[in-house]
Amino acid sequence: MTDPGERLRSSLAADQSSSSSAGMADFDSPIAMEAMRATRVLHAADQEPFPAPNRIRVITIANQKGGVGKTTSTVNLGVALALYGLRTLVIDLDPQGNASTALGVEHTVGTPSVYDALVGDNSLGEVVHPTTASPKLLCVPATIDLAGAEIELVSVVAREHRLRRAIEAYVHELPPEQRPHYVLIDCPPSLGLLTLNALVAGDEVLIPIQCEYYALEGLGQLLNNIDLVRQHLNPGIAVRTILLTMYDGRTKLADQVADEVRNHFGELVLPAVIPRNVRVSEAPGYGQSVLTYDPGSRGSTSYVEAARQLAERGVDLPPLDRPGMAGVAVPPVAQHAVSTQESS
Ligand SMILES: Nc1ncnc2c1ncn2[C@@H]1O[C@H](COP(=O)(O)OP(=O)(O)O)[C@@H](O)[C@H]1O
Ligand SMILES: [Mg+2]
Repeated sequence: MTDPGERLRSSLAADQSSSSSAGMADFDSPIAMEAMRATRVLHAADQEPFPAPNRIRVITIANQKGGVGKTTSTVNLGVALALYGLRTLVIDLDPQGNASTALGVEHTVGTPSVYDALVGDNSLGEVVHPTTASPKLLCVPATIDLAGAEIELVSVVAREHRLRRAIEAYVHELPPEQRPHYVLIDCPPSLGLLTLNALVAGDEVLIPIQCEYYALEGLGQLLNNIDLVRQHLNPGIAVRTILLTMYDGRTKLADQVADEVRNHFGELVLPAVIPRNVRVSEAPGYGQSVLTYDPGSRGSTSYVEAARQLAERGVDLPPLDRPGMAGVAVPPVAQHAVSTQESS
């Protein structure tokens, strides 16, 4: 019942029977529209792929508030990028392991995880797992062991640089065609040593902002921390993307928050807005992203749109002064993903 293909077929079948009983094909019906959207998402690989970035993009998804959509956005943007042809690695850096859950990756105690690379001696390559969403999407899961890492890391040499070094070693050891185009790091809801590691590891920050009361509260603290990291630990880091999440078009408040965020952050805010959509919150319960759970839903199509905009903004990034990534070529995009319409 939860198989995305089956959902699509049943929604198509429901549409067919309703249009034939009406004696005419009604392509404007909500079900037909949804089926059409689902087909588009599911057959993403046959369509034009998203453009590859001009360098490997390491994006830290941060906001020290809980429940603003960090994990949901990491997972669904990651799946969208992968379905549209870009190799993506999701690193779950929250001890709760919600991103691992949503990607259907095991994260019980003892599973090789990000903890082993941060605190232990494992390489990232040794703790990377495949996902069911796409062969182009890999995940480094988080287990509950990570809860102790904030304290254990305190005595580790170069403790703020652990994740950065691990990512750099990982991309160097891979052949170019297996390197990720995108590395997305899902942060815990705090500004501790784990988030610090993610800010030192990233080249840019994506901040999800919930269209709700107090959306901007605490944001100043996050921006201050990012400034401090830029001054002392990672000169390349910058906020490059703001994503508005859980937008409820029925409320005036959501519009006010969205306007305020756009006034404040301008171009950094993606045009695509993620609506509040029950399918988005149901999907993790089935170990899935919303794109695979209900591809035709508004939640799914808006995450595809946001990922497309993110990718389009990545084709012309300024060069980075990051010695650890020097000489690392961007992997090629698979040719088979190019649409047949394009070539005719
Ligand atoms: N667009 C959305 N529509 C409905 N529910 C959402 C949406 N985005 C996130 N949620 C739900 O809100 C809760 C918090 O989201 P989550 O991504 O876990 O936030 P964070 O990682 O910032 O703590 C989760 O239960 C999630 O399923
Ligand atoms: Mg989270």
